Amino acid sequence: MMKATHRATFGGQLGAVLVTAGSAVGLGNIWRFPYVAGENGGAAFLLIYVLSVLLIGVPIMLAEFAIGRHTHSNAVGAYRMLSGHWTALGYNSVIAPLLIMGFYLVVSGWTMEYMIHSLTGEFTRVQTVEEYAAIFSTFTQNPWRPAIYTVIFTLLTHGVIALGVQKGIERSSRIMMPLLMVILVVLAIHSILLPGGMQGVKFLFTPDFSKVTASTFLTALGQAFFSLSIGLGCLVTYASYFKDDTNITHTALQVVLIDTLVAVLAGVVIFPAVFSVGIEPTAGPSLVFVTLPAIFNTLPLSMVWSTIFFLLLVIAALTSTISLHEVLTAYIHEEWHLSRRISAWIVTAACSLLGVAASLSLGAWKWLQIGGKSLFDLLDFVTANVLLPAGGFFICIFAGWVLDRRFMPHELTNKGTIPLRLWPLLRLLLRWVCPALLLLIFLDNLGLI
Ligand code: PFF
Repeated sequence: MMKATHRATFGGQLGAVLVTAGSAVGLGNIWRFPYVAGENGGAAFLLIYVLSVLLIGVPIMLAEFAIGRHTHSNAVGAYRMLSGHWTALGYNSVIAPLLIMGFYLVVSGWTMEYMIHSLTGEFTRVQTVEEYAAIFSTFTQNPWRPAIYTVIFTLLTHGVIALGVQKGIERSSRIMMPLLMVILVVLAIHSILLPGGMQGVKFLFTPDFSKVTASTFLTALGQAFFSLSIGLGCLVTYASYFKDDTNITHTALQVVLIDTLVAVLAGVVIFPAVFSVGIEPTAGPSLVFVTLPAIFNTLPLSMVWSTIFFLLLVIAALTSTISLHEVLTAYIHEEWHLSRRISAWIVTAACSLLGVAASLSLGAWKWLQIGGKSLFDLLDFVTANVLLPAGGFFICIFAGWVLDRRFMPHELTNKGTIPLRLWPLLRLLLRWVCPALLLLIFLDNLGLI
């Protein structure tokens, strides 16, 4: 095992918040959250989502931060160091990021292609939503273009990882996260000012509980998991680079606040635009790639707005793929005793291969199906519905029941140097509430209840 003392650290509290927020804020917030909220009653979903984030997201995030910061090790090393019997949880923590990369890089590649198409003005010739739908399906099923963009996006991620923890990951987050917030605020203001835009804002903030069913709760919980990057090795790995005096409770609360704010702002960008042209807000996953470009096209300066919007998606996706890549790079570097440079190349090669196969499974390699699902859908399904909730469940059990009772308070108070209020509540959530709710999503996702 590598000596922990030689490991890099992030500059300080702000760095810790920005890199972790970079992992959390991603396609999950800007692409997924608006359409899931649209399908589940807008504000009612938002309310349930916020509850899930507070009840489940925060306790698990704190447990992962404590484990990572205490051990200063990659995800596998961290669990093994704390208890040899729990190394398998470490392996789940590195396998899940690889599988997520398989489909996440493909969608990231699409955002890049759409940004370039917007920039070159190619979309200005297209008129109807149907035409956009046709473009989207022709593009995603094309044998080589999306595959090439997948590889380009992997190499872009590799470029940042190759620069190292501080010069690559931290510095890029310090530039990209503020830029992302500025773009988001500009787009949100632009959307609200559209004629009829306020109707979209109203949709997002006026709860309609008639659309809420049992599955809404479970969807919100799953969304919170994916969006906060919890249940796998990302937060453990990032926290392993935190300094010992980083206040992990404050970091977690700030990350959760930024992540939720970005999801809400993404809704503020998208719903007013949707309502201003009279399209139903329940368009599903194609909302961002079909409905939105069609809406942009009806606006003055469409090329500019559309380019900026897809740039936003590229930035959001990149800060997340960096975090997924780092989990794997840190693991290979420290556990296989290879140089960081070679480790990063191994990860890049593996992710590119998996990403290209997943991309092809949507078109040229339609035969690449397992259990009736394309490889692309399967990777999405297995990670979101099995590996992440299972990881989250076992992290709660590990931190709440297996580790010494003093472990969490010791870490959260930085060895007793900072105060910790609400510990009894947090302990209750970690030991009882989170595992119980997670068991529920898990069984529901597998169709067992
Ligand atoms: N949180 C990211 C998003 O919302 O898009 C996705 C993600 C990144 C999930 C990193 C998991 C992870 F470890």
